[in-house]
Amino acid sequence: MPLAELDSYLRQNASRFEDDLCELLRIASVSADRQFAGEVRKAADWVAGQFHHLRFETRICETPGYPIVLAQSPHIPGAPTALVYGHYDVQPPDPLDQWISPPFEPTRRDGNLYARGATDDKGQMLTHVKSAQAWIESQGRLPINLKYLIEGEEEVGSEHLEAFIREHAKELAADVIVISDTAQFGPGQPAITYGLKGIAYFEVKLVGPKQDLHSGTFGGAVSNPANALVKMLAALVNEHGQVQVPGFYDDVLPITSLERSQMDALGFSDDEFMRSLGVKGLFGEEGYTTLERRWARPTCDINGLISGYQGEGSKTVLPARASAKFSFRLVPKQDPKRIARDLEAMLRRLLPPGLAMELIAYHGAPGVVVPLDSPYMSAAARAIEQGFGRAPVYIREGGSIPVVSTFAEILGLDTLLLGWGLNDDNTHSPNEKFNLADYHRGIKSSAYLWAELAKLAPGKAGG
Ligand code: BES
Ligand code: MN
Ligand code: MN
Repeated sequence: MPLAELDSYLRQNASRFEDDLCELLRIASVSADRQFAGEVRKAADWVAGQFHHLRFETRICETPGYPIVLAQSPHIPGAPTALVYGHYDVQPPDPLDQWISPPFEPTRRDGNLYARGATDDKGQMLTHVKSAQAWIESQGRLPINLKYLIEGEEEVGSEHLEAFIREHAKELAADVIVISDTAQFGPGQPAITYGLKGIAYFEVKLVGPKQDLHSGTFGGAVSNPANALVKMLAALVNEHGQVQVPGFYDDVLPITSLERSQMDALGFSDDEFMRSLGVKGLFGEEGYTTLERRWARPTCDINGLISGYQGEGSKTVLPARASAKFSFRLVPKQDPKRIARDLEAMLRRLLPPGLAMELIAYHGAPGVVVPLDSPYMSAAARAIEQGFGRAPVYIREGGSIPVVSTFAEILGLDTLLLGWGLNDDNTHSPNEKFNLADYHRGIKSSAYLWAELAKLAPGKAGG
């Protein structure tokens, strides 16, 4: 069912909604780097300003870290309630010299808007604000109750969010959660994501002699922290692509044959995948396809390595220290805490004499899979078909959104993961972009989602 007035409103306001996104993208809200603290807060204020403009009940809630913006539309008794989650923080823009246009000066090029945060997650998050604005300004009202929780610490592990959700559980009561912070299956093929990976992130530090040494005078007689580190890291994954932490696969659910055939039916091409990444071969866990590896099998990746001489030319040094950051992506049922324990025991066994080891466990989150057979899923599928002109396919993804499992656990709610992004949007990397047509299709899908959800009976939130 098309909504004529709404559609024409969206067409007339398209460029204004783009300008609004550009305003938010100019704020350098990098949560990982304290230098940007002022900007992160500015982004929270900007988001709150959007909700004030819509006359939503709005609060900027302080946490020990960055604030959480909460907003709520005027209550409609008897109507269902959707809770929208998004994040206004972004990843650091480095390496800066690889950006074609500066990361915080949003620039339009060939149908895309380039800026840090364009897809992840400012652009996608804003689609659900603009869709509400479209309803209010074209129809005078929303068809359902909307609540928003927009946080500023997603890119650093959402450390303070769980406690906040526990404390505000009553206020956050809803029928369903809506998040746009994922991707389409491909250009022109929208998707609903029903599974995300969890994560367990670590830093290991090895310390040897009291200072750097001449590698000729001392090499071979004392443990070299860099030699030891690469050996320990190499032991994490074997030549079959299997993670070697003891017990790592104990809780992993096998991929069902039904799910395997559904993934196969998506028509994924390894050749295209290789071409898009500029690689000539693929490697992963033996016995699994690329999609299975990316979506439904746990993995291990080194994220950063530091040791020894990094300058020009050669320097014969035996470094006193070495450190690495690395993480495991997890699937449902795997427990980040148990993995931390088993990993620490394994690394201690591999530690050569004369070195001290410190293992820091950063953020952890379990993997999630959400049910496909809910009325909310069908409502979302109909809305996406209106917005994108094509029915969505159902996919899993390898990224993590820690709050999804928190919402399930504390609020007992399922999440609709409706991704408007593309896998080549360069999230977390230079030249991040958001396709402007996808921005508008996302806004339209969201506007239709409110209409589709309005047809469902209110559940847990009790209208
Ligand atoms: N939007 C991403 C999550 C994502 C990425 C979902 C790709 C699906 C596909 C989110 O902002 C993100 O980057 N999450 C982090 C979580 C981590 C910091 C705990 C991630 O996945 O690395
Ligand atoms: Mn994100
Ligand atoms: Mn991200």
